[in-house]
Amino acid sequence: MSTNVIILAAGKGTRMRSTLPKVLQPLAGRPLLGHVIETAKKLNAANIITIYGHGGNLVQQVFSQENVEWVEQAEQLGTGHAVKVTLPVLPTDGVSLILSGDVPCITEATLRKLLQASTETGIGIVTLTVDDATGYGRIVRKNGEIQAIVEHKDASDEQRKIKEFNTGIYCVNNAKLHEWLPKLSNENAQGEYYLTDIIAMAIADGLSVASVEPELAFEVEGVNDRVQLATLEREFQNNQAKKLMQQGVHLIDPARFDLRGHLSVGQDVRIDINVIIEGDCEFGDHVEIGAGCVIKNSKIAAGTKVQPYSIFDHAIVGENAQIGPFSRLRPGAKLANDVHIGNFVEVKNSSIGLGSKANHFTYLGDAEVGAGSNIGAGTITCNYDGANKFKTIIGDCAFIGSNSSLVAPVHIGNGATVGAGSVITRDVAENSLAFERSKQVAKENYQRPQKVEK
Ligand code: UD1
Ligand code: CA
Repeated sequence: MSTNVIILAAGKGTRMRSTLPKVLQPLAGRPLLGHVIETAKKLNAANIITIYGHGGNLVQQVFSQENVEWVEQAEQLGTGHAVKVTLPVLPTDGVSLILSGDVPCITEATLRKLLQASTETGIGIVTLTVDDATGYGRIVRKNGEIQAIVEHKDASDEQRKIKEFNTGIYCVNNAKLHEWLPKLSNENAQGEYYLTDIIAMAIADGLSVASVEPELAFEVEGVNDRVQLATLEREFQNNQAKKLMQQGVHLIDPARFDLRGHLSVGQDVRIDINVIIEGDCEFGDHVEIGAGCVIKNSKIAAGTKVQPYSIFDHAIVGENAQIGPFSRLRPGAKLANDVHIGNFVEVKNSSIGLGSKANHFTYLGDAEVGAGSNIGAGTITCNYDGANKFKTIIGDCAFIGSNSSLVAPVHIGNGATVGAGSVITRDVAENSLAFERSKQVAKENYQRPQKVEK
């Protein structure tokens, strides 16, 4: 039996007070709707139908790479109306999982549980029991069997005491959706077509309604304002942090750790506080990341230590390297094993060979550095003439004296030495010394100017 996913994402999200449509607000660096689409894809849904309304063009643009079918709900007349507009594209067989674009953390496991529970009944919902369910639709049961969902605004005082609420996540037989949705009415407190009314219709048809609870409460939390968004962000991060710790990562403080993407780790990785990891990252065994680092789409091999406040973006670092503090590895930085990159060193589109060092205040751009070379403090590869970029090639075991400018294209041979303060514009041959520097002048017994009294 084929499964469709329907995602409700037409709401305006007024309470966010943002120009960005609500479902595009980021949670852990990814739009809310992106989380739901990713989960839907894990279920191998035959079709993912997304109902859009406010900011529709922008929403479609952001997800243009995704295989999603878009259905417009021009006027938001309620959740039942939203699903009704999908009927022309909804198959008449199979089942649909109905999700919300602003309930981003629902997991594949809970949805599979819901699908399983709904197989026999043809209809099921995800519910949760809490102390105070104010605002939510309440689950009305008789002898344990679900009878209806009553919206908070339509509920009696007695019903408002019910602690079990509707999370807005459903599994429904498509044939039944085709049958029930056209029959919805909007005669209720909000004048809306309520999707929740299909529960009473199912009961009237003699069906019973299955229900499952999520493993963790935050899975079904919705986002309506920025306070809820920030709260959910922390819960999401705590959950990720917990999983990493269960894998053996030593997080100094899980409350001060942010992963906006995916991190795969070896053994005994240690991460200090206020580290942000983005995109796809990989850390080998015993990697240590100091406080305040931001690491994006990078691979760091075993034994490498990163000192505080270093920034990585699309960098690849070998084993037992030492980076930082305050290093910046930009896209295309490729560091071999045992490399040392120190404070205020920027590396862009450059490869650095085994054991080479650039420990202080250096820019290496479009460079190839061999093994065992030492790049002195303040060395700059002048890779850009204002129009084009050129390469600097430095061989093995070269020594570049401090404060040198290497004007690319230029080649420094194996074992060559560059004297401090040189501006190198021509190639330097293997094992030779090159320097470029005016003679030092000495004036003995020099008298400094004296201040003239007026
Ligand atoms: C709904 C449920 C309520 C449940 C709650 C859980 C109904 C009538 N009530 O209430 O039982 O406890 O969710 O959060 O369904 N949307 C559209 N088009 C519309 C209206 C809504 O796409 O015309 C989308 C919204 O963008 C949102 C979702 O549907 O993603 C839920 O809508 P919302 O207005 O938040 O529903 P609630 O009133 O909170
Ligand atoms: Ca509402």
